[in-house]
Amino acid sequence: MCAEVYTRVAIIGPRRLGYAGCGMPNVKAIYPGTFDPLTNGHLDLIARGAKIVDHLVVAILRNADKGSPLFSVEERLEMIREAIEEQGFRNVSADTFDGLLVEYARSQGAQAVLRGLRAITDYEYEFPMAMMNRKLDPKLETLFMMPNEQYTYVSSRLIKGVFKLGGDVSELVPPMVVRRMRAKGGAKA
Ligand code: PNS
Repeated sequence: MCAEVYTRVAIIGPRRLGYAGCGMPNVKAIYPGTFDPLTNGHLDLIARGAKIVDHLVVAILRNADKGSPLFSVEERLEMIREAIEEQGFRNVSADTFDGLLVEYARSQGAQAVLRGLRAITDYEYEFPMAMMNRKLDPKLETLFMMPNEQYTYVSSRLIKGVFKLGGDVSELVPPMVVRRMRAKGGAKA
């Protein structure tokens, strides 16, 4: 591992790669999203991310341009914090951000962004975002992880759609999210 890094640094140069040394740095990553609501797929990704980075910040975008949300940003933040507590993720925290992700990552001293890839359609959505973020901040790396295959079709958008029509989503979101969805009324989640 160390030798590989030395070889690459020797060929490309340490400044361009941005390596501080051959030891793994203390890695902080941001897992950004709208999380309206948090799903079991998100939780699966948080668990995977938390295993490979030192600290993971689940960050809710405040000014998302996605129509009317089911939950307010504050409600989403509360649910994510509750889930982090419930799951016992000791190196995960939750926060919100506005504006550019790269600026937020910089303000947090994060070196990486974590995003999930469920299917090839996600790749088409994610690739330009990752490239734009790299253009805006070449030092910020985007890490992609795949959730467990049982969550490949699970999205917040589908959960909301099914819930609104009275469908059962209780196996796809944490119980506390189901309770809160029920409390919003109008469906039998
Ligand atoms: O859960 P989502 O809606 O797929 O998350 C999208 C998100 C929040 C990751 C993305 O919209 C984002 O990073 N927005 C912040 C604005 C920004 O930095 N835009 C430039 C990079 S494309």
